[in-house]
Amino acid sequence: MRKKKSIQDFYMMKEKGEPITFITSYDYPTATFAEKAGMDMILVGDSLGMCVYGYEGTMPVTMDQMIVHSDAVRRGAPNTYVIGDMPFLSYQTTDEAAVENAGRFFKEARVDAVKLEGGVRVASRIKAIVDAGMLVMGHIGLTPQSSSQLGGFKAQGRTLDSAQAQVDDALAVQEAGAAMILLEAIPPEVAGYIRDTLTIPVLSIGAGPYCDGQLLIVSDMLGIFEAFTPKFVKRYAEVAKVCTEALTAYVQDVRNRAFPEPKHIYPMIPEELIKFKEWVAAGKGKIPPHGVS
Ligand code: KIV
Repeated sequence: MRKKKSIQDFYMMKEKGEPITFITSYDYPTATFAEKAGMDMILVGDSLGMCVYGYEGTMPVTMDQMIVHSDAVRRGAPNTYVIGDMPFLSYQTTDEAAVENAGRFFKEARVDAVKLEGGVRVASRIKAIVDAGMLVMGHIGLTPQSSSQLGGFKAQGRTLDSAQAQVDDALAVQEAGAAMILLEAIPPEVAGYIRDTLTIPVLSIGAGPYCDGQLLIVSDMLGIFEAFTPKFVKRYAEVAKVCTEALTAYVQDVRNRAFPEPKHIYPMIPEELIKFKEWVAAGKGKIPPHGVS
């Protein structure tokens, strides 16, 4: 059984320049796959709103949904560092709400850390959660929960002003006590500068190669979620295609009576079958096979 990595291990990996591997997962099976693959960290992202529930965005996702999925992931990956993603309105209102909801992830789903979106403006939330004894990952750049304010799902930090705002946000997140930070969809030069400036591990999703580790959305990289694929995604499998082909073959087999085959049935004990046939015949009934319609 492998040893679960701790936050200290991630600091050492940053120090040594060893990339941290990071993936989202929303359920027990994919969590088992990630752990078998040797993944360092799993994010139970509120992207499950789109990838699992078919919502248009992450806004409708509730704390209760996040807890159910985080708990399933924890069971599937008991020896992997699991981070629970705080959904919209679970921390935006007050520091107290942020602490209470972060605490639910730890108590009810046994996560190792929580993630929340924003920089300077959520610094007091991060500090409150950290002061209550929990570990936090910050998340800046393209922050999906505030995408309407950002003018949509748009890369950030592409102008000097915006790049400086990203640096200010990253420093505020570290200053507030976050243990790690995730940069989403910002240019590699800005991400690399932040990585070199901060002492905490800096993870990238669409922020280029100069970070301490890389995150992908499992449904994107496995080819499960087909509605939209961001530019930064590399596809490693075509699971939706494989599943659709398998389900189509099953539909055809059932329609053509090619399934089930003799190996898929539970036969009666032979002498009991004779007695059953006699009993049915006595009642003037018939048992198959007598021609199927
Ligand atoms: O919910 C999620 O999966 C995320 C990623 C987009 C970083 O927050």
